[in-house]
Amino acid sequence: MFAKVSSLGLFGMNAFHVDVEIDISRGNPQFDIVGLPDTVVRESRERIRAALRSCSINFPVASVMVNLAPADTKKSGSVHDMAIFMAVIRAMRMIDSPLDGCSFIGEISLNGDIRRINGVLPMVMLAREKGIKSVFVPAENASEASVIDGIDIYAVNNAEELIRHFRNEELLEPVEHYIPPETAYDEILDFADVRGQQSAKKALEIAAAGGHNALLIGSPGSGKSMLSKRMSSILPPLTFEEALETTKIHSVSGLLTPEMPIITKRPFRSPHHTISSAGLAGGGTIPHPGEVSLAHNGLLFLDELAEFDRRTLEILRQPLEDRRVTIARSSGTVTYPCTIMLIGAMNPCPCGYFGHPKRKCTCSGKKVSAYLSKISGPLLDRFDLHIEVAPVEFEDLSSKAKEESSAEIRKRVVAARKLQNERFSGTPITCNALITPDRLQELCPMDEAAEALMKNVFDRLGLSARAYDRILKVARTIADLDSSEVIRKQHVAAAAQYRSLDRKYWSGNE
Ligand SMILES: Nc1ncnc2c1ncn2[C@@H]1O[C@H](COP(=O)(O)OP(=O)(O)OP(=O)(O)O)[C@@H](O)[C@H]1O
Ligand SMILES: [Mg+2]
Repeated sequence: MFAKVSSLGLFGMNAFHVDVEIDISRGNPQFDIVGLPDTVVRESRERIRAALRSCSINFPVASVMVNLAPADTKKSGSVHDMAIFMAVIRAMRMIDSPLDGCSFIGEISLNGDIRRINGVLPMVMLAREKGIKSVFVPAENASEASVIDGIDIYAVNNAEELIRHFRNEELLEPVEHYIPPETAYDEILDFADVRGQQSAKKALEIAAAGGHNALLIGSPGSGKSMLSKRMSSILPPLTFEEALETTKIHSVSGLLTPEMPIITKRPFRSPHHTISSAGLAGGGTIPHPGEVSLAHNGLLFLDELAEFDRRTLEILRQPLEDRRVTIARSSGTVTYPCTIMLIGAMNPCPCGYFGHPKRKCTCSGKKVSAYLSKISGPLLDRFDLHIEVAPVEFEDLSSKAKEESSAEIRKRVVAARKLQNERFSGTPITCNALITPDRLQELCPMDEAAEALMKNVFDRLGLSARAYDRILKVARTIADLDSSEVIRKQHVAAAAQYRSLDRKYWSGNE
């Protein structure tokens, strides 16, 4: 007796189709699974035997052979349990209805309950692409799957429900398509709470408008963490495509809940400085995404940047340029996207007061350089905006004046992004920070005075080619905030000024 049932598998973020083929024939009673299964897949034999018992079905006393095709792709995890279960009962003729056009994903527990799995979203997206009509998923994953339109999703709680459905005894209804709400902004963390700090706020507005990386440096209590934590409130809303991309990564990591089946807000990830390299960039035997990928299309905030392990930080260098992380393992190579804005915050020295206008720094020159050298030149080069956060003035703190709210700043950010969307329409570029070197001259036209200033800055500051590119892109964003298609002298001047901190703190310290 032969049966074939469709299932879906996952490696990294890439879903693939799996045919579960089963042959039940006379012979020595045995139950074998072939087709490169890992230990967890092989153990599904025991789960399925028990689940059948829970449905009062005796496992056939026969030779049962399951093949997971294609045989040369590694299968891992418990995702195929439900499909193998269906294949067994179909081959035993416990159900008559054909299973064409249906795919099954989910783990079965010993009592027949269907358990949630990770990565349902990319798998359902592939199912739709392959023309599969219905996917049966664990009830807990149903809302996540129902984000995808044009395919029927069935939520399954236990094996009994599946049997009754396919025996036409009690039909399951497809779940309703989930329409994600628009980006909702947190009203608790608002820029209006930050008194004064106009120049830091302006710099962060530029960062948000162009998707630029920014480094905040300043003494303890100057408000670096406070400012950074409010960045989410001024970022532009996610587009649906961006939301799906980001949600796929969160789906693979098992971070979605039935209440939040799709990420509708740009992620804000702020890992602690004790994080490992694998935690930050991704890793593990079956490579999982790291914080840098979980922040995809959003923001990665590294507070107390100098406290991170230097080697861990250096790992970020390549992903920040390539906008993706590739992890190679014996089990295969996985690539996760990581288009992020990186915001770093740090003190300038161990005591925190180096360069403070009023307080004296108690650190020796050597200590200051050792502290700053934790941030290497190449990493520093990747921060487009260096923001010096000065101590708050008493007048600002005690002032009764109303500060500008995040919603007002966001309006300008969104308007600047709109100009960028028009400029980049039809290209994969989504914001100024992502302009590729080959398009730089064309997309960042400067007038004569701006060009002359740029040359002067380049020679005087001894800029790297990367720093030149980045200054030009920041100038592009400043011009966009100014609704100017051409980059003018004042835009270049403002952009160059944000690269001055490395000379104040790092010159001679590297
Ligand atoms: N501009 C400001 N307006 C209002 N409150 C502020 C401002 N700056 C700082 N504060 C207050 O000071 C507290 C400390 O600020 P914050 O934690 O952001 O400092 P920090 O620069 O990150 O310091 P550290 O270097 O020690 O991490 C804030 O929680 C807030 O209450
Ligand atoms: Mg802080």
